Amino acid sequence: MEDLARPEESMRRKIPISLVTIRKARLFDIPYIMEIERLSFREKYPRGLFLTFMEANPETFLVAEYNGKVVGYVMGYLKPDMEGHIMSIAVHPDYRGNGIGKALMVAVIDRLFKRGARWIGLEVRVSNERAINLYKKLGFKIVKRIISYYSDGEDAYYMILRPEDWERVRMA
Ligand SMILES: CC(C)(COP(=O)(O)OP(=O)(O)OC[C@H]1O[C@@H](n2cnc3c(N)ncnc32)[C@H](O)[C@@H]1OP(=O)(O)O)[C@@H](O)C(=O)NCCC(=O)NCCS
Repeated sequence: MEDLARPEESMRRKIPISLVTIRKARLFDIPYIMEIERLSFREKYPRGLFLTFMEANPETFLVAEYNGKVVGYVMGYLKPDMEGHIMSIAVHPDYRGNGIGKALMVAVIDRLFKRGARWIGLEVRVSNERAINLYKKLGFKIVKRIISYYSDGEDAYYMILRPEDWERVRMA
């Protein structure tokens, strides 16, 4: 998915990452998660999908909280073949660029590998430079381009993070 253009960059808030908590998503977070999703993506998931996902993956559906407010979320899960997969990640537009996306990714990656993921995969729009940069910094590599993956016809990169690359990034 691609983030929506947001001209009013001045709304951005600079906050210290030390004041951001990463925790498991709870039922009452869902309206806030859906609002961040609405501000971030053109395609939206129905509410029921968030509920089902939370029930099935309570340890790897995480939110970032700042000042009592949900400012970002990540949805990870383990596939039957033990691929860890990132289904979605977004940070509220006003809070981007503070390291929250990275903190969410680090937390979900750790949890997926601890649960036995053999590698972690995700799809990202080929135009989503911001997200691609974040994933590359965490050790993800592009392994293939999926033609017309999105409903508007845009291609996706399928990127994967191998445990050995994660170890290298963690130690750096
Ligand atoms: C992608 C997203 C989650 C990143 O969240 P974030 O909190 O802004 O990211 P961070 O502040 O943790 O930045 C981590 C890295 O992302 C990259 N990044 C962040 N903002 C960037 C920007 N404006 N331009 C290019 N790269 C950027 C950088 O590599 C950055 O590392 P650095 O700070 O060491 O330079 C956020 O931009 C977002 O919600 N986008 C909309 C939804 C989306 O596209 N999700 C991904 C779908 S696959």
